[in-house]
Amino acid sequence: MELPKLKIGNKTLSVPIIQGGMGVGVSLASLAGNVAKCGGIGVISSAQIGFKEDDFETNTYEANFRALDKNIKEAKEISQNNGMIGVNIMCVTTNYEDMVKKAAESGADIIISGAGLPKNLPELVKGTNTLIAPIVSSDRAANLICKLWTTKYNYAPDMIVVEGPKAGGHLGFKLEELDNKDINIYDIVSKVKEVAKQYESKYNKNIPVIAAGGIYDGKDIVKAFINGSDGVQIATRFVATEECDADIKFKEAYVNAKKEDIVIIKSPVGMPGRAIKNYFLDNLQEFKLKKCFNCIKTCDRKTIPYCITQALINSVSGDIDNGLIFCGSNAYRIDKITTVENLINELVKEAKEYE
Ligand SMILES: Cc1cc2nc3c(=O)[nH]c(=O)nc-3n(C[C@H](O)[C@H](O)[C@H](O)COP(=O)(O)O)c2cc1C
Repeated sequence: MELPKLKIGNKTLSVPIIQGGMGVGVSLASLAGNVAKCGGIGVISSAQIGFKEDDFETNTYEANFRALDKNIKEAKEISQNNGMIGVNIMCVTTNYEDMVKKAAESGADIIISGAGLPKNLPELVKGTNTLIAPIVSSDRAANLICKLWTTKYNYAPDMIVVEGPKAGGHLGFKLEELDNKDINIYDIVSKVKEVAKQYESKYNKNIPVIAAGGIYDGKDIVKAFINGSDGVQIATRFVATEECDADIKFKEAYVNAKKEDIVIIKSPVGMPGRAIKNYFLDNLQEFKLKKCFNCIKTCDRKTIPYCITQALINSVSGDIDNGLIFCGSNAYRIDKITTVENLINELVKEAKEYE
């Protein structure tokens, strides 16, 4: 299949591939900028984005603000005005509203929000040119958010990302649903497409539906398109690129992972997550909370076994034994580190071999 272009807002992208936002610090300006340069949507993760700033520990809020602005501007520069630069901002983060407003002000082309329903997102970007997209895991959630936005704000989503059970990071499914082989991204996408169509005709606007979670190669991409997808969001594969913002040891953990190393964890955030089994996960009792960054609305600092911010900062900075290494279900299939351009070309070329 010759992959179609992705129409979103008033833009037409040559590559219908979105690089999924990855926090903490895995997708920043370098990865996002280079994906956009190749014609796709590069997505910066806003989660504790200021962790490299000198005052992060003492002035977390300001450090995150400053770093968000820097990363958006740098990504835009790298992109050479190709593709789009998006920002992934999770609804459960305590600075959600302010980060959305800041991202729009700094020139983000699109904000993609999941980990909760982004109920008031239209209000937060009002008066800017920034597009908005919810991440959902079911047609029920897609319907709910479309109904809510159109009723309250007279605004239909500019895009809908559908994340299935094979994704990386925090997952929008219950533990038992993750084991259920009958739940798959392709079925959910085709149902969400039906929801999008209703609002497309009512609002006379194009609402692309994007499949995410476990999409690994050209064959998977074609399958997503056959099931009604207008594009795909891929995260795990972009970790093993030279341009990915994580430390080389984080990338090598992907290359070295075996299938049995990829496990489901119960995150302190209150959602299941997928990660690579390591010293950290085997010895959680050693990683008791020392400092709270007050990052997640649903995190109860009295009962959590460890701090998610610290665990993710450790791994992305290269201390992979003492940190949490989030990954998608297919991370074990990665056997080399490549460049963003080679990866995108490979995916587009592979897709051409399937109908
Ligand atoms: C290391 C890592 C970190 C992630 N962090 C976030 C995040 O901060 N916010 C979010 O909405 N999704 C996050 N995700 C999910 C991705 O954006 C993406 O939708 C999903 O992983 C796609 O599946 P794939 O990894 O199998 O391609 C993360 C995924 C990974 C692998």
